[in-house]
Amino acid sequence: MDKNSAFLKQIDFTGKTALVTGASRGIGEAIALSLASLGAEVILVSRKLEGLTAVEKKITASGGKATSIPCNTGNMNEIDNLFSQIRGKYEKIDILVNNSATNPFFGNNLDATESAWDKTFSVNLKGYFFITQHAAKIMKEKGMGGSIVNIGSVNGIRPTPMQGMYSITKAGVISMTQSFAKELAPFKIRVNAVLPGMTDTKFSSVMTQNPELLNKFILPSIPMGRIAQPDEISGAVIYLVSDAASYTTGSCITVDGGILA
Ligand SMILES: NC(=O)c1ccc[n+]([C@@H]2O[C@H](COP(=O)([O-])OP(=O)(O)OC[C@H]3O[C@@H](n4cnc5c(N)ncnc54)[C@H](OP(=O)(O)O)[C@@H]3O)[C@@H](O)[C@H]2O)c1
Repeated sequence: MDKNSAFLKQIDFTGKTALVTGASRGIGEAIALSLASLGAEVILVSRKLEGLTAVEKKITASGGKATSIPCNTGNMNEIDNLFSQIRGKYEKIDILVNNSATNPFFGNNLDATESAWDKTFSVNLKGYFFITQHAAKIMKEKGMGGSIVNIGSVNGIRPTPMQGMYSITKAGVISMTQSFAKELAPFKIRVNAVLPGMTDTKFSSVMTQNPELLNKFILPSIPMGRIAQPDEISGAVIYLVSDAASYTTGSCITVDGGILA
């Protein structure tokens, strides 16, 4: 085998099963499509079946394999039920991408409510934590290792005004990544994070569709002078879950057009 084909084998996910949360649109959809195009069978998760089946159809139409399972990743009963279904149907999980997140409150911390706090923390931290716990138990039982990537945000390093609670959860995602990385390394399970900057999705549309906010504040803060497209985020995820990153755990890769530089 020549050097090039040996490298390409590292990003060949044939025979691997990958679980992606928030896979019905945006960054999660781009990650799911990339993983499927490289051979992984993808379990697509979000709350609404309709969005998931649309992504599932795109994958199967191009010869890939995917299954849609609706789940509110901020709800423990639904997470437990998701993993009962996964354990009933799949022999193993090789890859987990925690991506579903919420940001229900845009405003000053002094005006934030307890219900917004509870929702933000349930989806962005509790969900990531217990989905990781479930998936890592399966990986550990099978003894074949695995790879987990958490989608954080540059806000986890540098909080953005009006997004306090969201930023605090994203700082927690970085600590969670490092904590699980240390605990799971002996079982050959790697845990890393990707921290996107502003990306063109429904999630960010409240800011990116506001021309004044976009042109006066957002674009001038980005050295590359533009926001990302979702498939510019998925490359870093593919690297981290692949064997090309076999010595990388507990790392955070920023994909932000230079915002944090
Ligand atoms: N866009 C950005 O500028 C940006 C920047 C930095 C980081 N990020 C991070 O990137 C990740 C993906 O964001 P995105 O921009 O792709 O957002 P998006 O386009 O709004 O997609 C969010 C996805 O999460 C799902 N979701 C939302 N709440 C959920 C819940 N409670 N349970 C299960 N699924 C849920 C949504 O599907 P359903 O509605 O069907 O549940 C959807 O599939 C998030 O972690 C976000 O914090 C985004």
